[in-house]
Amino acid sequence: MNLALKIEQYLPQQLLTLVKSINGQAAERGERVYLVGGVVRDLLLGYPNFDLDLVVEGDAVKLAQQVAETSRAKLLAHHRFGTAKLRYGDFTLDLATARKEIYAKPGALPTITPGALNDDLIRRDFSINAMAVSLALNDYGELIDPYQGKNDLEHRLIRILNPKSFHDDATRILRAVRYEQRLGFGIEMQTAQLLKQGIPMLDTISGDRIRHELQLIFKEKLPELAIKRLGELGVLLRISPSLKGDGWIAEKFDSARRLNRPHQLPMLYFCLLIYSFSENQLEQFLAHFNTSTTLSRSLRDTIRLKISLHLLDKPAIKPSEIYNLLREYEPLAIQANAIATESSMAYQHLQLFLTKLRYVRISLNGGDLKRLGIPVGPEIGQILHALHRAKLDGEIKTRAGEKKLARFLKTLGFNTNPESPVK
Ligand code: CTP
Repeated sequence: MNLALKIEQYLPQQLLTLVKSINGQAAERGERVYLVGGVVRDLLLGYPNFDLDLVVEGDAVKLAQQVAETSRAKLLAHHRFGTAKLRYGDFTLDLATARKEIYAKPGALPTITPGALNDDLIRRDFSINAMAVSLALNDYGELIDPYQGKNDLEHRLIRILNPKSFHDDATRILRAVRYEQRLGFGIEMQTAQLLKQGIPMLDTISGDRIRHELQLIFKEKLPELAIKRLGELGVLLRISPSLKGDGWIAEKFDSARRLNRPHQLPMLYFCLLIYSFSENQLEQFLAHFNTSTTLSRSLRDTIRLKISLHLLDKPAIKPSEIYNLLREYEPLAIQANAIATESSMAYQHLQLFLTKLRYVRISLNGGDLKRLGIPVGPEIGQILHALHRAKLDGEIKTRAGEKKLARFLKTLGFNTNPESPVK
């Protein structure tokens, strides 16, 4: 089957020109280049995917170096793995030397040696990801499909290429479910059986790699589908005994999407995924999954705030009290709690903070207070604080109002706390 016409219609012109130029340079070096993996799958399905993976029968790093020189690309090379990334303004291209993989022990990263295209295809996870398209001039556009990936696409099936696939690399369990749910496919019968048998092998995978797979799931359009399925299969339980993939998650993920802040979504999903955790459960989870400092902070704040949320679940609470209760928390954790809480009162207070209170500023500063005759010292800070509180509570609205209150507090002897005796 030849996909030349399809490729010409599918790839943006700029990318097409670049791919052809790479192929030209490879041909001069006596090397062959192929489009592989996700882009071939999506090309056949007609889904846009411009994250191009190219396999080179030859030396991908040297070829990429040459291409970078002639096309003003930023080059990121991994000599050890024989791979290189070419970064252009709007897109990136991945080049990899065709390779053979041997798994010395389950869960560990494989040992790799250079190989031919077929070696590179057989090492892959699923038949639908193990197709290539030749870019060489003599057979440009030819589909190379030794494992019937196209047939599986037509039958909407996820199928592994070798019975040890999940055993060697149990991250493929999560990948299988991710593709199944993304594409609305089924997992082929024998693959499904081996997947279930392979679940204990998740113990051989490092926390980092599992977390990476979860993060890939969070980039999907409807990640709750994969989370739910992983829950049903017992995968979540194996990853962490406290993880759940129930209907609550689906409902809350949907609410998170309605906020329309796509760049925040993956982290927000993470906060919601661990929402049922206790502080102890979360600490165990963080230690195992080696989460980044930023993500860990948001996850910890999510649970800390959940535990104190009852303080916001009452009607007579001043805006300045809401501010003081929430000011130390990560906005993402506050957002997660606003989505998660069943209390409409707490929700309103969290929303008030997120949409208004956290942006409230006074216009006077320390210098202005000095000019009003307030001496340098701790009183300046106390008065600024009192002005901020009054502004939060709507007691003052303008700069003139701030000045008036500052003068008044000065006459009180700077006592901003009515309960303590005037100095
Ligand atoms: N791959 C694999 N086993 C893994 C991870 C990746 O065999 N554990 C292979 C697959 O053939 C996959 C390719 O490496 O097609 C590239 O991986 P990745 O970029 O994660 O997937 P894409 O195919 O690009 O698919 P998508 O990004 O759409 O999920």
